Amino acid sequence: MKLKSTINTIISSALQEAGIDAPTLSVTNATRKEFGDFQYNGAMSLAKSLGTNPREIASNVSKYIDSNAIEKVEIAGPGFVNIWIDNNWLSQELNAISKDKNLGISRDKKNQKIIVDYSGPNMAKEMHVGHLRSTIIGDTLSNLFEFLGYEVIRQNHIGDWGTQFGMLIAYLEEIQNEGRSYEELKDLEHFYKLAKAKFDSDTSFANKAREYVVKIQSGDNHCLELWQKFIDTSLAHCEEVYDKLGIKLTKNDVRAESSYNDMLPQVIKDLENKGLITISDGAKCVFLPNSEVPLIVQKSDGGYLYATTDLAALKYRGQMLGAKRICYVVDARQSEHFSKVFWVSKEAGFVETDTSLEHIAFGTMMDRSGKPFKTRDGGTVKLIHLLDEAIVRAKDTISSKEALDNDTLEHTAKVIGIGALKYADLSVNRESNYIFDWDKMLSFDGNTALYMQYAYARIQSILRRFDGELNGTINIQSDIEHKLAIALLEFDDILAKTANDAMPNYLTGYLYELATLFMQFYELSPILKEADEIKMSRLLLADLTAKTIKQGLSILGIEVVDKL
Ligand code: ARG
Repeated sequence: MKLKSTINTIISSALQEAGIDAPTLSVTNATRKEFGDFQYNGAMSLAKSLGTNPREIASNVSKYIDSNAIEKVEIAGPGFVNIWIDNNWLSQELNAISKDKNLGISRDKKNQKIIVDYSGPNMAKEMHVGHLRSTIIGDTLSNLFEFLGYEVIRQNHIGDWGTQFGMLIAYLEEIQNEGRSYEELKDLEHFYKLAKAKFDSDTSFANKAREYVVKIQSGDNHCLELWQKFIDTSLAHCEEVYDKLGIKLTKNDVRAESSYNDMLPQVIKDLENKGLITISDGAKCVFLPNSEVPLIVQKSDGGYLYATTDLAALKYRGQMLGAKRICYVVDARQSEHFSKVFWVSKEAGFVETDTSLEHIAFGTMMDRSGKPFKTRDGGTVKLIHLLDEAIVRAKDTISSKEALDNDTLEHTAKVIGIGALKYADLSVNRESNYIFDWDKMLSFDGNTALYMQYAYARIQSILRRFDGELNGTINIQSDIEHKLAIALLEFDDILAKTANDAMPNYLTGYLYELATLFMQFYELSPILKEADEIKMSRLLLADLTAKTIKQGLSILGIEVVDKL
């Protein structure tokens, strides 16, 4: 049930019946109780374009508003239409969705394929916090699109190709030849440093590394074997992180940079055929309107670049996978890269002109002092340690609240710790930088996962104490019930909007409001002490709230527990 969209439709038809030609409209949530539940404020701009009086338009429209969803309308100020939703209608809608396992959300199969390109760690080095953000946001968007009935293709565009791999496999070979164990590979950052030091100090090693770069690219078996071993080890590190984080990416979603290698010469030919290539300093470049800096697609030595691979990937995604919407969840610092690659891929006909290519950009994760998140000596924070720390800290937070047995405590700590970490990331507007703050993210108060998980557990505890069948009906009466009901019926609108704008913080903001309304309702309205009918109605309302919170969190990749 999309409450807001329903009201929009009611107002649109009223306008039509009143003979007023109006653009698509959107009512807003009223900011004060005396303004009702929703407000339509389009009369003012309509009056301007029609040269009439806005109050006249408003009163004309309100005459034609005829729906049992609406209790009353009032015209206020210069021409606002204030709308009150009817309690009987609310009750009826809530009763319908509380019986539906999808909570009344339209999940019909949509005839649109969406690709979500996310995580994309580089195999040469340790996965860093930028990849953590991409992984969390990308997974949420994929879950959401899937939930709404789209066909989603997750793509992990891992960086497994490029000159640094010559050096890394030459070093790996050395370890093998000396019969040493692969201990050093456990820490990729360290391994990289050792290989680099050797590369810088030992010319024959450096020459071999360069030779190996060429050999991997030309398909030499020995080098490819070493390379594969290195990639497998590195990918296993990432999988450990995905697993602990509860991320749905699997090996099947990996579509590595190397997999596009064979397509690259043809990509260049396609661009040449379209007359898009200009040679500049020996390199093949595409010049774009409004930019002096071209997109280089082939270096003067014949080597290809990150951008060339992305063009090949777009060709594959547009032509082979047939995607109509492609979302790249990548650091905001790559925005110029994507705007160029997107433009070129359309000019070249790799994707259709109406395919939506979106850079889902995100900002940098900062520490509490406002500096980019690093280890004390300026290195990369090992993500797996960060996740472990989240769990340890969560354990401290909860063990002080309720006595849980050991296994339950372990499980709960994981759910709370990982949930806190994900939620902290998802609840800020993704385009801004955000401050990573353990205390804030693990707080029971405020817009945190824990606040929502706590509201959920609280409802479960009420249901446990009731210990019976939920079989009555919801009957909305008080003001706070009315507000809670409206929020519950807006879930579907919010999901659609979150998916449309690819903004997970819309959903977190909604869940926070919902949980807050529930807490207010719970404070004002006794449940178990009431007579049967009221008790049942309130229990059902509580249960529906819990289900909505659980569903919302699950889209965010966050679990709930019954006891906290
Ligand atoms: N490996 C890249 C990086 O670490 C991210 C890949 C993003 N996806 C893409 N298709 N370029 O910056």
